[in-house]
Amino acid sequence: MTCLLEVRGLTVELPTPAGWVRPVNEVSLHIDAGESLGLVGESGSGKTMLAMALMGLLPPGARVEGEALLGKDRKEVAEVKEKNAREPGVAGGKNLLALNERQWRAVRGGQIAMVFQEPMTSLNPVMRIGRQIEEAIRAHESRLAAGDVKRRAAEALGRAAIPEPQVRAEQFPHQLSGGLRQRAMIAMALAAGPRFLIADEPTTALDVTVQKQILDLLDHLRRELRLALLFITHDLGVVRQVADRVAVMYAGRIIEEGPARQVLASPRHPYTQGLLNASPTLERGKLSPIPGSVPQLTAVPPGCAFEPRCSLRRAECVAAVPDLRVADQSHTARCVLV
Ligand SMILES: Nc1ncnc2c1ncn2[C@@H]1O[C@H](COP(=O)(O)OP(=O)(O)OP(=O)(O)O)[C@@H](O)[C@H]1O
Ligand code: SF4
Ligand SMILES: [Mg+2]
Repeated sequence: MTCLLEVRGLTVELPTPAGWVRPVNEVSLHIDAGESLGLVGESGSGKTMLAMALMGLLPPGARVEGEALLGKDRKEVAEVKEKNAREPGVAGGKNLLALNERQWRAVRGGQIAMVFQEPMTSLNPVMRIGRQIEEAIRAHESRLAAGDVKRRAAEALGRAAIPEPQVRAEQFPHQLSGGLRQRAMIAMALAAGPRFLIADEPTTALDVTVQKQILDLLDHLRRELRLALLFITHDLGVVRQVADRVAVMYAGRIIEEGPARQVLASPRHPYTQGLLNASPTLERGKLSPIPGSVPQLTAVPPGCAFEPRCSLRRAECVAAVPDLRVADQSHTARCVLV
């Protein structure tokens, strides 16, 4: 299958005083235009590191392996894939993991963008909102006339459903409420017309009503602009609201993947089952947290990484990392019980 974004065997390694660690381990996933993939997992499972690899923003000294192909459409991804197959090692221009910093400047913002939990990580506190959005547009279209840039920036604010956009454009980030700041960040991320958007816990810091509004906005924009959306969250209730498909991450690996409705209704990996039983927004009965915690990256168990916490473990679980097994059509899980 070929999609707008296709990631294969993405591994990220980082140097630490205790040696190299692997926060992202042989991750493969795909997202099509107009589709949203929810990426879930407990704190420390590698979700943000995966996003940073796709944005070319890994910490200094990081080693990265694998392929992340981004195309205009399925046809272009297929062409890049074929080219890479013909000349292994000589990655096509669209393999995100092989871009240099100069190439990244054209791709980041222009083709792929990210919104964060805390808008102030991407908004400049001492620059008016409108100016910031204009700069984001100018970074990719330097030849656009000043009037056109202004018009495009106003459009971007309007697209993010910011009330009184002319007034807001003249304000500084601290003059906006949390929800409006998040809208301004979304406007800025989409201003230069990317086709792929990563949202990393964009609503975690907001109260429930505002959270719902931002989720509805992202959902609307995804459909209207046919964005491929990677939505990162630890909240399965949010996944149910925004994701077509879901990928569950544990200790750097995808351990379950499939249509969101199916995975939430009948999870096949004990870890996903545990997350559901511990989800305050989905579980109607008594909440039961998963015992233990995510392993340290310096001490990931050799077989199934979830084995020390799994009530269903058997002898074979420690022997080797289980493969992703097909549970049902497009639903896979990395567990020997499947
Ligand atoms: N610069 C770094 N050097 C070494 N290890 C790091 C570095 N940055 C993060 N890590 C480790 O990488 C792992 C993955 O972190 P990451 O931030 O991707 O998790 P996450 O799933 O996004 O968690 P959260 O839900 O808390 O945001 C963690 O174990 C973290 O401690
Ligand atoms: S492979 Fe074994 S330890 Fe891992 S989740 Fe499945 S049953 Fe549990
Ligand atoms: Mg994170």
